[in-house]
Amino acid sequence: MATLPAPAPDFPEPDIAELIAARPHLTMHAMDGLVLDGVPLHGIADALGTPAWVYSAATMRRRYNALAGALAQAGLDAHIHYAVKANDRLAVLRVFAREGCGADVVSEGELQRARRAGISASGIVFSGVGKTERELRLALTEDVAQLNVESAEELAMVSALAAGMGRVARVALRVNPDVDAGTHAKISTGRAQDKFGIPYAHAAALYARAAALPGIEPVGLAVHIGSQILSMAPYRAAYSRIAELVRTLRSAGHRVAVVDCGGGLGIPYCNEPAPAPAALAGAIKGALGHLDVRLMLEPGRWLVGPAGVLLASVVLTKQETGGRFVVLDAAMNDLARPAMYDAWHGIVPVSAIDAAGMVGPADVVGPVCETSDTFARHRLLPPLGPGARVAILDAGAYGSVMSSSYNARPTAAEALVDGEVWSVIRDRPRIADLWRDEHVPAWLAV
Ligand code: LLP
Repeated sequence: MATLPAPAPDFPEPDIAELIAARPHLTMHAMDGLVLDGVPLHGIADALGTPAWVYSAATMRRRYNALAGALAQAGLDAHIHYAVKANDRLAVLRVFAREGCGADVVSEGELQRARRAGISASGIVFSGVGKTERELRLALTEDVAQLNVESAEELAMVSALAAGMGRVARVALRVNPDVDAGTHAKISTGRAQDKFGIPYAHAAALYARAAALPGIEPVGLAVHIGSQILSMAPYRAAYSRIAELVRTLRSAGHRVAVVDCGGGLGIPYCNEPAPAPAALAGAIKGALGHLDVRLMLEPGRWLVGPAGVLLASVVLTKQETGGRFVVLDAAMNDLARPAMYDAWHGIVPVSAIDAAGMVGPADVVGPVCETSDTFARHRLLPPLGPGARVAILDAGAYGSVMSSSYNARPTAAEALVDGEVWSVIRDRPRIADLWRDEHVPAWLAV
């Protein structure tokens, strides 16, 4: 199985100073240690304990505006719908809502979260390969902007429901372009064998059927080929297939007003070259710019990934003959990405004194009883004694949302920094909260 693009073997992994220098929201101060925007991370860890997630609102805004700016610069009529799955905290959604961003949701829960955070239904796209009848009903009742339909079976369901409710669903057909995004196999979604979308060869016929169905207004096409995509070639391939389909549909007399270009834009976790938003805007413009369609994008990771860190404390350092294990109080139940996708995340000491120590290789692990509970192997880090704090970088996307309470570990607290101020945006549950919703049957009474 392919792994996420690994650090280029010819280049050393970035050192601590390089990791910080590449991230504008992070600075190291001699006295305060690692500072996120205007807030020393030690202060947040003192107040909340560790593990704790900390996000930079300014970074989210800056990235949203950089992407929106690149699209505008390319002369594209494009609207951004933040993929809520990347980080669905209400405060995070509110940051984007205030910028005028829409939302891409994939469940009733995400739809309700987006609405609660103040994103209007007219800014919401509902995606997903298995929307339930209940979810579709809710989407129709709320009158969301668009339903991205992924199969003939779903189209029939939407038509029956919408017609029964006296509604008209604005539907885009999500097409599977059979393009390999060149990313980790577990997050590739646009190959023919993947469960997502309507096979390219069937899409035109299904669009024609959609146009004839009650309760359906086909508005256009959608495509999303995967996540953490670092090359423009697969985007170009997918978009040119979509452009071809738009032309085919139009020549058959159909109206195609919208193309949803999906998400997937990758970020540099290590030293991998990552495309700028202008490159994505260029790929979209090249393939779709002349078609006179309204464009939508559904980025998640690119907007929030770099904006977050996971703060952790060293429980102990285990010195073995084979090497050193730095055992943190954060684990795979908090940040699952290394265990699930062999993902590389930068790890930086929070104290300036720690950061200045002489580095040597270490395996950075959590306390969970699985070998997969490993954040980094052979990572060059200074000595880190019990209580030393580290920040695991680029943890803003697919971090807290994928947490569990495996090993009966309460999920971590979450905080949002905005300039010089910060607030808790999600409390750490208490231990007793872990069994709050459980029941021991009376027939098991002791
Ligand atoms: N649109 C659709 C239909 C999606 O399925 C996704 C992500 C996105 C947009 C946003 O993709 P992004 O811009 O964030 O790449 N847990 C994995 C990533 C899973 C992505 C799932 N779909 C990880 O941690 O790498």
